[in-house]
Formats: sequence, C-alpha cells, structure tokens
Amino acid sequence: MCPHHDQARTELLLPDHHARLDRLLTEVISAVATDDRPALHDAWGAFEDAVLAHLAAEETYLLPGYAEDHPAEAAAIQGEHGEIRALLADLGVSVDLKRFNRGTAGELAARLRAHGAREDADLYPWAAQHHEPRWRRFLDAHLRRASFASHSGGPEKNADVKPGRPGAA
Ligand SMILES: [Fe+2]
Ligand SMILES: [Fe+2]
Repeated sequence: MCPHHDQARTELLLPDHHARLDRLLTEVISAVATDDRPALHDAWGAFEDAVLAHLAAEETYLLPGYAEDHPAEAAAIQGEHGEIRALLADLGVSVDLKRFNRGTAGELAARLRAHGAREDADLYPWAAQHHEPRWRRFLDAHLRRASFASHSGGPEKNADVKPGRPGAA
C-alpha cells in the first residue's frame, strides 16, 4: 500500500472511531428507551468493549510518543481517560442493577464528545504526522478488533499486535 493511501486511511480511521463510540452509546440509550433488555445487554457490551479498547489503544500506541513532544496535553488526555473509565464503570453498575442512570449516560456522552474533539484537534494530527507505517498498522489492527468485538463476543485477548513507539520499528 502506498504511504499516502496508508496515511489517509489512518486519518480517516481515528476520528471515525470517535463517531462510532458516539453511535454505540446512542444504541444503548435507544435500548433503554424501548425497555429492551436483550438489546440493552448487547448494546452495552459492545459500547463498553469499544470504549475500553479505544482508550487502551491510545495509551499503548499514541500517548507514550505524544508525551515526549506534548507532555502537558498528554497528561490531560490521560486524566480524562480516567474520568471516562469512572463514568463508564458507574453506568455499567446502573445497567447491571437494571436502573439505567440517564444523567450519567448524558454526562458520559458529553465527556466522550469533548474528549474526542480535543484529540481530533492535536493528538490525531500529530499521530498522522509522526507514525511510521508499521506502527500505524498496529493501531489500525487494534481499533479494528475493538470495532468488531461486538460481533465476536468480546475483544481478542491473544492479539498479535505488539506495543510500539514511533521510530522503534
Ligand atoms: Fe482518548
Ligand atoms: Fe480517542
């Protein structure tokens, strides 16, 4: 694959994954609105898996290198990941207890959108500029597994993707 095509694909993939997370949460809220417990179970599992895989992929493949150039912004993003995980855990408990917390869901949706916009503004353009093709493929494969996790019962645990750093290939 030519480098230009590879880079363009990566630039499309990353922000697209933010939009996908937003859609998955909308599906969760729709299942709550129709009081469809099986649909809610499936939608919640897909959303939770995708968010956790997304955060893990960024922390494994993007933030270490990004922190070398932009330490304050990388630390802020890492801090927001902690807040997102906490909201996700709170919402998961409310799903388990069959008392879905709409307030927490709204807060999580807003937090994810703001966080995604923050990353789209600087982290992802940085990644598109600095990642070697092989490194970008690792991230691509990781995010794709997250995208398809809901169709395979969960994210794969024995991934052949190895953590990498820019310039370490
Ligand atoms: Fe993030
Ligand atoms: Fe992100």
